[in-house]
Amino acid sequence: MVKLFDPYISKAEINAAVKVIKSKFWASGSGVNYVKKFEGAFCQYTGSKNCVAVSNGTAALHLALALFNIKNKEVLVPSLTFVSSVSSIIYNGGKPIFVDVDPETLCVDIADIEKKITRKTGAIVTVDFAGMPSNLNEIKRIAKEYNVPVIEDASHSAGAVYNGKKIGAHVDAVCFSFHPVKNLAMPTGGAICLNNKNSDKMEKTLQSLRWCGIENRHGYDYDVGRLGWNYYMNEISAAIGLIQLKKLDVANKIRRTISKKYFSELEIKNKMPYSENCSYHFYWIRVMDKDKFMRKMTKHGIQTGIHYKPVHQMSYYKTRTSLPITERIGKEIVSIPTHPNLTNDNVNKIIHTVNSCMRNK
Ligand SMILES: Cc1ncc(COP(=O)(O)O)c(C=O)c1O
Repeated sequence: MVKLFDPYISKAEINAAVKVIKSKFWASGSGVNYVKKFEGAFCQYTGSKNCVAVSNGTAALHLALALFNIKNKEVLVPSLTFVSSVSSIIYNGGKPIFVDVDPETLCVDIADIEKKITRKTGAIVTVDFAGMPSNLNEIKRIAKEYNVPVIEDASHSAGAVYNGKKIGAHVDAVCFSFHPVKNLAMPTGGAICLNNKNSDKMEKTLQSLRWCGIENRHGYDYDVGRLGWNYYMNEISAAIGLIQLKKLDVANKIRRTISKKYFSELEIKNKMPYSENCSYHFYWIRVMDKDKFMRKMTKHGIQTGIHYKPVHQMSYYKTRTSLPITERIGKEIVSIPTHPNLTNDNVNKIIHTVNSCMRNK
């Protein structure tokens, strides 16, 4: 079976993990303190002001939104995303207001943000869909007009570029997921990059929030100054992450080469555009009979996926909101693999199989 996702690992990650396991210093802050090393390296890589590592991407979104006062306020967010982009708003007492997406990029539709933003809005959450950077300049322009922060869900876009700078350096808080399927993979992990004028203070707040509200540690003495969570990154993840980070640009280049080939050779009208700035976490196509198509792909030994069934259509999040583009795309979208372990034969087989499925609809 050609897998949809597959971590791009070598002996180096295995050796790093074994070294930490043998050291018996597994928790953050102990032993070598790989977590701190990872934070420094990721901060430098992204060009962000500050970086705080956490236990996963959901935790990153939860804590990033906790930095801004969104309680009882509306937060604009796309529905075509993983549920964590939305649940993190509710964790913080905010009210998600779903916005539609641009049919070209599947990132938030700027016109719909302009239509839905009001004085009741407390923040804008944007998602870099499949690794395609959102239109951050426009989002920042609108956010500035309403004096609200921008939180970027960059779970798919580690290593992507916007306006010549890496994703991570552009908006108030940028949240990454290092889930094993992601472009930068760890057993479990996430990070928040900060660029706000108060980001030094925010970094300290996040460090306290990620570890039970603990602050002012002096030796064995400490205080608990706020309600916090147990969201710290472990040392095994951080040690693996440091190696993954070194290979991220090379791995993303392979993903782009594969995606460029899909873009030029797939005989499908509605497909993901090609951009040198995208990190291509996966490649999406739109097909009419999704279930039949996916069944055929499985039969030919190729795993596909659905990213995403819209959040506003899930039982818990159901609203009356109508999002015509998201709803249509939710019925048609299928993801195909772009991971760097694919061989040329795999890629050619994927193209050939998709094209023959499309011809014999
Ligand atoms: C867009 C998006 N946001 C948030 C997350 C949550 O990340 P994690 O699984 O690390 O909590 C994911 C992960 O699947 C994601 O794809």
